[in-house]
Amino acid sequence: MGLFSGGETLAGLDLGSSAVKAVELRRVRAGFELVRAGLEPLEPGAVAEGAIGDPDSVAEAVRRVFSRCRIRARRVATSVSGHSVIVKKLTLPAMSPEELEESIQWEARQVIPFDLSDVHLDHQVLGDASAGGDTQVLLVAARKERVASRLEAIAGAGLSPLIVDVDGFALQNAYEANYGDGSAVTAALLHIGAAVTNVVVTRGGVPLFTRDLSAGGNQLTGLLQKELRIGFEEAERIKRESGVEALEAGPAGALLHSVVETLLLEIRKSLDLFEAGAEGESIQRVYVSGGCSGLAGLVERLQSGLDLPLEPLDPFKSIAVGRGVNEESLYRQAPSLAVAVGLALRGFHD
Ligand SMILES: Nc1ncnc2c1ncn2[C@@H]1O[C@H](COP(=O)(O)OP(=O)(O)OP(=O)(O)O)[C@@H](O)[C@H]1O
Ligand SMILES: [Mg+2]
Repeated sequence: MGLFSGGETLAGLDLGSSAVKAVELRRVRAGFELVRAGLEPLEPGAVAEGAIGDPDSVAEAVRRVFSRCRIRARRVATSVSGHSVIVKKLTLPAMSPEELEESIQWEARQVIPFDLSDVHLDHQVLGDASAGGDTQVLLVAARKERVASRLEAIAGAGLSPLIVDVDGFALQNAYEANYGDGSAVTAALLHIGAAVTNVVVTRGGVPLFTRDLSAGGNQLTGLLQKELRIGFEEAERIKRESGVEALEAGPAGALLHSVVETLLLEIRKSLDLFEAGAEGESIQRVYVSGGCSGLAGLVERLQSGLDLPLEPLDPFKSIAVGRGVNEESLYRQAPSLAVAVGLALRGFHD
C-alpha cells in the first residue's frame, strides 16, 4: 500500500440493465476487504439485454456511482451476458499446447454461430491438461459490437476497462472467494437480475455448466405496467412492496403467477440439463443472488420448486467490510452486487 495505490487498484463494474454496480476491494492479511460499493439505477432502455442503448446515460450513471461512493480506482473489470455471449465446453484428446491452440480455433469455427472475425474469443483449460487423457476446455465467444458499446460507455466515464469477463464466471468467482476454498460441493448459483438470470453449476473451483436465461424482474414490472396502465417507477414500487404472494392475489395475478412459474421451470430445466449430461453427478446445494432474489417470497418459491437445500448467496460472507462502507445500504444491495464482487476479485488474479 502506497500513497498512489488508488491508481493501481481495479474496481468491478457490472453494467446491468436496471442499475450500474461498482465494487472496490483491497487485499488484507486475512483475505479481502470491501473498500467501497454502490449502485446507481439506470433509465429503462439504457441497457437492453446485452446491448447498450444509450452509452451517454450509462457513462453518466457510472460517473455518478464512482463519485458518490468515492471509488478511486480508474481501471475496471466489467462483464457481458445474455445472447451476446456463447460458452461451450469442448472435450479434446490429450495433445501438445500448440496442437491444442489449433484444435480450439478449429472447434470454435464449428460451434460458434458467428463469423469468428465478429467475436472476441477466449478459452480456459479446465483441470490439468498435461495429466493425460481428455482435456476439457471452456470456450467463450462474445460479439465484438456488444463488447465495444460497453467499452465506449466506460471510456465515456473517464475509466479504463482492463478486463471483460462473463457474468456467470464473475458470479462463480464471487462464490469461490466466499464459500469455495476447494469445496467438493456441487453447487448451483442462480443470479436473478432484471433481464437475465445467470445459471452456473460449479464444483471445486471448476465451472461445470453455465447458461443465461432471458428472464428476470423486468418481466414482472413490465406486466404490471401494461395491465395496470401505470409507469415504470410505480410498477417497480408496487412489485417491491408486494412480494410474490400479494402480486399473485392482486390484479393481473394469473399472468404474474405464470411469469414466476416460467422462471422456475426454466431454472429447473437448466439444472436438469446439467444433470443429464453429468453422468450421475447431482446438484447438492443452490445459492441465490441478483436483485430479483430480493422479491419477498421468491426464494421460498424456488426452494419448494427445486426441492434442494437453498440459501441466499452472501457476496461478502468472507470479505471484511471497511469503514467507508455504509453497512445498512450494503445489506440492502448485497444480492445485486455478487457479479460486481466477482469482477473486482479479477484484479487480484495472477
Ligand atoms: N427488494 C426488491 N424486491 C423485488 N425486486 C427487486 C428488489 N430489489 C431489486 N429488485 C429487482 O431486481 C432487478 C434488478 O436486479 P439486478 O440489479 O441484479 O439486475 P441487473 O444486473 O441490473 O440486470 P441484468 O438482468 O441485465 O443483469 C429489477 O427487476 C428490480 O426490480
Ligand atoms: Mg446483472
